[in-house]
Amino acid sequence: MESGDIAPVPTAAWWQAAVIYQVYPQSFADSNADGIGDLPGITSRLGHLATLGVDAVWLSPFYRSPMRDGGYDVADYRDVDPMFGTLADFDALLAEAHRLGLRVIVDIVPNHTSSEHRWFVEALAAPSGSAARDRYIFRQGSGPDGDEPPNDWQSVFGGLAWTRVADGEWYLHLFDSSQPDLDWLNREVHAEFESTLRFWLDRGVDGFRVDVAHGLIKADGLPDVGHTNQGGIIGRDPLPYFDQDGVHEIYREWRKIIDSYPGERIAVAEAWTSTVERAARYVAPDELHQAFNFEYLFTPWSATDLRASIDGSIAACGAIGAPPTWVLSNHDVQRHTTRYGALGAAGLRRARAATLLTMALPGSCYLYQGEELGLPEVTDLPPDARRDPQWFRTNGAEPGRDGCRVPMPWSGTTPPFDFSPGESAAPWLPVPASWASMTAERQAANPGSTLSLYRTALRIRKEHPALGYGPPLRWLDTPTGVLAFVREPERDTAAGGAPLTCVVNLTEAPVSLRDVLERADLGPPLLASDRLSGDQLPPDTAAWW
Ligand code: GLC
Ligand code: CA
Repeated sequence: MESGDIAPVPTAAWWQAAVIYQVYPQSFADSNADGIGDLPGITSRLGHLATLGVDAVWLSPFYRSPMRDGGYDVADYRDVDPMFGTLADFDALLAEAHRLGLRVIVDIVPNHTSSEHRWFVEALAAPSGSAARDRYIFRQGSGPDGDEPPNDWQSVFGGLAWTRVADGEWYLHLFDSSQPDLDWLNREVHAEFESTLRFWLDRGVDGFRVDVAHGLIKADGLPDVGHTNQGGIIGRDPLPYFDQDGVHEIYREWRKIIDSYPGERIAVAEAWTSTVERAARYVAPDELHQAFNFEYLFTPWSATDLRASIDGSIAACGAIGAPPTWVLSNHDVQRHTTRYGALGAAGLRRARAATLLTMALPGSCYLYQGEELGLPEVTDLPPDARRDPQWFRTNGAEPGRDGCRVPMPWSGTTPPFDFSPGESAAPWLPVPASWASMTAERQAANPGSTLSLYRTALRIRKEHPALGYGPPLRWLDTPTGVLAFVREPERDTAAGGAPLTCVVNLTEAPVSLRDVLERADLGPPLLASDRLSGDQLPPDTAAWW
């Protein structure tokens, strides 16, 4: 797309049907040969995203950071880390994205700062009970000498959620010890983040992805959880440090700020909650616009489970008037090609089918860099290459998330496949030689590639009046293991009333479409994740008519 300004969407807000592509800056493209992705690298590759046909880019953090947690440990919220470039590089990226018709969403990390943030350095230097300590959650320990942690909370990355400082007090960190939690009962914290939001809104960003949106307020008195498998119940059972009602007040404040800027700017919540209904509360009309649908992401490759998850998500969002969102991968989870193939089945077949299913659902979709190439998780990274604090804090018991963060293979035949230019330092994570067949360049030239499938699917999704947010989804009766639904736009829309039918075969045998759809006149599909033979839809295949 070569267009200039972003045209206002006449029918619905852009984000309600948007496809938003997540870029993990360290691993997208390296411009200066140090083996680490950076902002000028991203700018140079925005053409890939425009050709792919997405609406917006979400950038994971590129702020000043000691990079103990891939940049989710922010030392300065209003500056670019020198490793990624400069604020001028950011402005150039934003201008080029807008020129290409792509919106840009940046990450905001309000639950915790880096321990190298000016505030935490001050807090450590200040005495117990001081204003500097009150920006964080410092407490006396328990036990006779205070040498037991204040409560039984565990870090999401493993181990205790408390670390003791020199004068004997403890501070809370729900993630790494280098990520102290802020105290959102302190008004100064609110004011600081409001300024940070305005800083990026003034620069022209189109929105924010809110990191750990469910974590900012902790239950009164910091009560014990009562057991030690806390990581195992995140997203399932209530916890005193997640999804407390008080967080919603913060997002009502933020929404007012976001709405005070021209253009339709948005915020999307990373909110791990115990039910989809509780996740939907983050997207009330006066709070955030979207929330990631992790329930859908974690649903196994099963027709019954997927249908229940889709229905549950649509119902929960419908009840609050928000469009649903769908996501299969991000920088925190095993890539879905590998996840769906975990039982030995061909994961890529399922991943391609899942993509057509997902893109046919009502609402907005999030893609993660590399899924358009069908990249698998890299499961055999050597221990000394690993960077994720989850790996270190569990002594390697948890492999961590490095395997989905391996640099993008762009072109050429040897690693790192033009991730870096010319003679350059080794990439920050090694790129497998087997990715030679998966580069963007190779796939662009092949109409049967996963990249071509994504490009075509996104083009049809944009053009077809039955896709996107509006038209409701109606399930068709199908044999066990097969999903089929129709989406029908209203007849009187300018685009006409052509319905779209999506069928997915999740069984291990081909199914006859004549039987599934009870009609013989379907003709060839608009798009299929694999070749059909006659009226037979092969296993792990999806198609659109
Ligand atoms: C979010 C991020 C994850 C990070 C964590 C702590 O879950 O997605 O990458 O480690 O927050 O900031
Ligand atoms: Ca670089």
